[in-house]
Amino acid sequence: MPENKSVVIRPAKNFGGSMSLPGDKSISHRYAMLGAIADGLTKLENFSSGADCASTLECLKSLGVRWERIGDAVAIYGQGAKLKRPTGVLDCGNSGSTMRMLSGILAGQDFTSELTGDDSLKRRPMERIMKPLGMMGAKITSAKDGRPPLRITGGRLKSIDYRVPVASAQVKTSLLFAGLYADGTTRVVEPIQTRDHGEHALEAFGAHLERRMKDVSITGGEKLKAVEATVPGDFSSAAFFLCAAGLFPGSQLSISGLLLNPTRTRLLDFLVGLGLKITPTDLREQHGELVGMLQVQGEGLKGARVIGEDTAALIDEIPVLAAIAPYTADGIEIRDARELRVKESDRIASVATNLRAMGAKVEELEDGLRIPGGQKLHGASIDSFGDHRIAMAFAVAALRADGDTEIKGADAAVISYPDFFNALQGLVQR
Ligand code: S3P
Repeated sequence: MPENKSVVIRPAKNFGGSMSLPGDKSISHRYAMLGAIADGLTKLENFSSGADCASTLECLKSLGVRWERIGDAVAIYGQGAKLKRPTGVLDCGNSGSTMRMLSGILAGQDFTSELTGDDSLKRRPMERIMKPLGMMGAKITSAKDGRPPLRITGGRLKSIDYRVPVASAQVKTSLLFAGLYADGTTRVVEPIQTRDHGEHALEAFGAHLERRMKDVSITGGEKLKAVEATVPGDFSSAAFFLCAAGLFPGSQLSISGLLLNPTRTRLLDFLVGLGLKITPTDLREQHGELVGMLQVQGEGLKGARVIGEDTAALIDEIPVLAAIAPYTADGIEIRDARELRVKESDRIASVATNLRAMGAKVEELEDGLRIPGGQKLHGASIDSFGDHRIAMAFAVAALRADGDTEIKGADAAVISYPDFFNALQGLVQR
């Protein structure tokens, strides 16, 4: 767990090299949860090294699921659909994904469970899963205003036909997982298509879905079968390195074994629009997920506007895109990003505060940020606000600043990518 340690980042002359990344966080959570309720032994290579996915594994252990870690692999001994009554409170740590998606499975269990988390997670909205899971028949109570801790009494569920009001892959996945325990067909319709790893994972474990873009249905009662899979490299972690390469014209970076699922890679379209040269090669499919290698060449960056569906598709990559915005020629404007205010920190405020600390002009909007281009930044003392993506985004911005930058609470990076600072230093040329 983060201990509020600092890291100092010195400016770089160039950036580049070859790398691969630990397994994608979104996919690791889903494979671990489905492996737990499948029949047989699930083996997952390149499982996420992040503390969030460790929280998922610990919760599963409290629910009677046996697993072993062997290097970067995890072997999960599936229990079948019915888990064991937990002996204590399930601690989801910093992980909203663990709490929201596991709730879908707990809604189908014949016992009561309690879920809690750290101070950041206790501030995050859970009403978005409480309402539809309640409609399916689970009894869920929370602390004030739909915030954790949650208490879920599950049982036999009834299917629902549900339009998700706020685009959220976690909510969609939670309801599809609950749909496994429901009588009849559960249908989830999204306002904007979000990442579809839940759908691919369910199919990989043998479930049958009906899918049409934003419209997904699952029929309850199917048994899941264990899989052997390699988790593709985390695209959201790759984003920091892609943006770092973007800061240095002429830089050359290659990333192999990377998740390239089109519902996750909108950042590539933006970076190409900004001027980067990006070539995907070695494309293949692994359990429904597109995987490949990216070859990237840095070029001078233009500007961009991120709005509407693009904002939703880029949601985890916005902090780093905003952190490099002052170095672009024309700046970056981000709108329709209210959801960023209820992530691990209020990411709109965190980015604005830190950019200002580095001497940048930035306009904070209720639903986004307006960051002019052509700016020079200086080294400063930066606060991660306990948020992994803020710590990593400002380590990237620091590479082009004048002078050293101290990232306070840099160890928040353990949440998704514990080796981030080593990997970054390994690619920096000074
Ligand atoms: C995730 C979905 C997104 C994202 C989060 C991971 C997932 O959250 O921000 O980091 O794995 O489904 P929302 O579902 O809240 O949009």
